[in-house]
Amino acid sequence: IPVDDFDLVIFGGTGDLARRKILPGLYRRFCSGQMPEHARIIGAARGEMDDAGFRDLIRDAIKEFAKKNDCDDEKIGAFLQRLHFVTIDAKGEGGWSDLRDLMRDGVVKAFYFSVAPSLFGDLAKRLHEFQIADDESRIVVEKPFGRDLATAKALNAGLAAHFDETQIYRIDHYLGKETVQNLMAVRFGNILFEPLWNAQYVDHIQITVAETVGVGGRGEYYDKSGAMRDMVQNHLMQLLCLIAMEPPSRFEPDSVRDEKLKVIRALEDIDHHHIVRGQYDATDTEQSYREDAGDPRSRTESYIALRCLISNWRWAGTPFYLRTGKKLKARTSEIAVVFKDAPHSIFGEDAGRHANVLTIRLQPNEGMTLKVTIKEPGPGGMRLIDVPLDMSFADALGEEADDIPDAYERLIMDVIRGNQTLFMRGDEVEAAWAWTDPLINGWEARNDVPKLYDAYSSGPEDAAMMLHREGRRWREVKE
Ligand code: BG6
Repeated sequence: IPVDDFDLVIFGGTGDLARRKILPGLYRRFCSGQMPEHARIIGAARGEMDDAGFRDLIRDAIKEFAKKNDCDDEKIGAFLQRLHFVTIDAKGEGGWSDLRDLMRDGVVKAFYFSVAPSLFGDLAKRLHEFQIADDESRIVVEKPFGRDLATAKALNAGLAAHFDETQIYRIDHYLGKETVQNLMAVRFGNILFEPLWNAQYVDHIQITVAETVGVGGRGEYYDKSGAMRDMVQNHLMQLLCLIAMEPPSRFEPDSVRDEKLKVIRALEDIDHHHIVRGQYDATDTEQSYREDAGDPRSRTESYIALRCLISNWRWAGTPFYLRTGKKLKARTSEIAVVFKDAPHSIFGEDAGRHANVLTIRLQPNEGMTLKVTIKEPGPGGMRLIDVPLDMSFADALGEEADDIPDAYERLIMDVIRGNQTLFMRGDEVEAAWAWTDPLINGWEARNDVPKLYDAYSSGPEDAAMMLHREGRRWREVKE
């Protein structure tokens, strides 16, 4: 879908996120012919730089971070012509009138705050004061959106002082992932699943986001956050919402976000027996979490597993097991819906009991598998085995799958289109913190020490025990 002409200002335009994700993503959209002829991108940052310097920096970034086969010198050159740079002082007056003079009227104006959250309020205020933004302008903010309910409320208030909620786009890049949106397509585009999607038929649901990377290089940020704040409060929570929510009446921003909010508000408090926190240990060649974090006594978790319950009619009593961690065995994100056994086996207990499992793999090897039970082949009587009905999106979609935009590309284009469906609303973020806060406060008050786990394992043994106690087991962490 074509988008309107725009001026996109990226505050923090020379920073890591801009170089790794935002600008290479915009370049891909440019290559796909989705960028209007006169659209411009304006980098804004504290350092002195001119347009040429910014273009050089971004040329290098594209070469380093865009997919190899996207890099074509001529195309990169044409894209760079869209780029401009303004030196700006977020806390002072410097540069703001230059920015105002550069902006055009009659195009979509979007402002991406790719900076520390402590600057959100200042930027919003200056954009307003210098009359750079108008009632139609959009601002985009990144996580971390606060570190608890109080800070998130303060950030929301700082933005709300100058912008309406309909102008604020809070990014959770998981919502921009193709397969995450596919969750909604699978649930609400098929008649097959929805009738079984409830406590009566679902035994439990597992949401796993496992990473192989450690926190080396960003230990200082990470140690103040931990897996709960860095991943659960946002990415896993969003996945949980999409899996658990009621069907929205339309695929429209507030219909979808209202339903997600109801899920978050229905989450029960969690007893500490149902939370397992871990830290990765050193290997012969690599540092431990505590060494990466630069604090030999750190109690921050690089792994967490939780058992969540949603108190509503659909899900009463059905556990949602969530886990995420660094330096695990494989990089994999998936959601598994484990159905209950058939109520009665006509083949007798000897045939074996089997449960259907629907697995949605978010990354890598995006796809869906439904484990179904069939007869074991051969003359030996009726014995049952499980086989996968397996679908990889790459196989099913062929070349189209190569063209799928990455999360940032899609989300930035949605900002220009003015579509907030895949962005978090202020009340949603606050509700997520309202649920997270007492859990974090609980383990801090207990001086809980995370359990050590072997690097590149499946995580701490206690996490396996948590499910074992309930007669269940985690799915294997594998690509
Ligand atoms: C970020 C977290 O939001 O998401 C990182 O801060 C994490 O710690 C990353 O590694 C995971 O994103 P993805 O897209 O690689 O799954």
